[in-house]
Amino acid sequence: MYGTTDVTAHRWGMRPVATISDEQFELWQALIEARTGMTVGVSRRSYLETNLGIRMREIGVSDYETYYEQLMTGPAGEREWAVLVDRLTVQETSFFRHMSSFALVKAHVAELLGRNPSPKTLNLWSVGCSTGEEPYSLAMQTHAQLAELRREDVYFGVTASDISLPTLSRARAGVYGERRMHNVSTAWKQRYFEPVPGRKELQVTAELKRHIAFVQINIMELDRAPIGDMDVIFCQNVLIYFRRFRKRDILANLAARLTPGGLLVLGVGEAVDWAHPALVRVDYPDTMAFRRKA
Ligand SMILES: C[S@@+](CC[C@H](N)C(=O)[O-])C[C@H]1O[C@@H](n2cnc3c(N)ncnc32)[C@H](O)[C@@H]1O
Repeated sequence: MYGTTDVTAHRWGMRPVATISDEQFELWQALIEARTGMTVGVSRRSYLETNLGIRMREIGVSDYETYYEQLMTGPAGEREWAVLVDRLTVQETSFFRHMSSFALVKAHVAELLGRNPSPKTLNLWSVGCSTGEEPYSLAMQTHAQLAELRREDVYFGVTASDISLPTLSRARAGVYGERRMHNVSTAWKQRYFEPVPGRKELQVTAELKRHIAFVQINIMELDRAPIGDMDVIFCQNVLIYFRRFRKRDILANLAARLTPGGLLVLGVGEAVDWAHPALVRVDYPDTMAFRRKA
């Protein structure tokens, strides 16, 4: 079978990426799925070729087989995998990406605070947080909500996790071009960001960052993650390339990390036929969410 010539490579003035053989493609598919959970379908074959090719050129390896062997070998292979995984995952994200889901979190937090007794801490988790826009959005919203309700006695923390270390370090830096911030109001830009001298970018304030802990967690290895008692788990656009059985196992694992009454927010349509005995579906417009039974 013949692969297509890669247009991206031409645009960047590089030599076309070598065509990956069927056998090698299957090997890489299996490796990526085993380690990340993501399936690489035939439609993403050229995406894989391009991204492997770019990395191979960077480190001077000319064939897929040698690169595969390198990845499998010792600590150097592990270090290389940490770089590669960042190139193979899709990091697309934005601030307040799905407004209705954030509105639901706000309503849930209001309800928790209205209870008697209301909580003294709120724990939120952004699973697959990418470059940080999602956890910072959760943090800004919760901070503003507590201030508005004069509930500064309540401490809140956001755990932000992702498989990719380079992505997490971009998230931790919290520096964004203004063009990526169209969903953040001017008032919140002034309140939660500060200018980066000499650059057309804004940086999240240290005060907001103090509420967020960035950690590397592979959702395929959730059993190793000592996380629980979550009031809100936000997991959107992460499980889209996962097989049904994996998605089901991961969702059950996330459900077990919710506190009684806690909220699991997924992307709309991401788990249409999924149900869990400990959870009830939340009826809120344009969202897909579940609440753990009390
Ligand atoms: C498309 S982004 C979604 C970001 C954000 N949740 C949103 O909806 O805007 C998907 C993120 O999931 C992460 N990811 C993919 N596989 C993962 C895994 N096995 N464990 C943890 N994170 C993973 C990727 O690194 C990427 O940052």
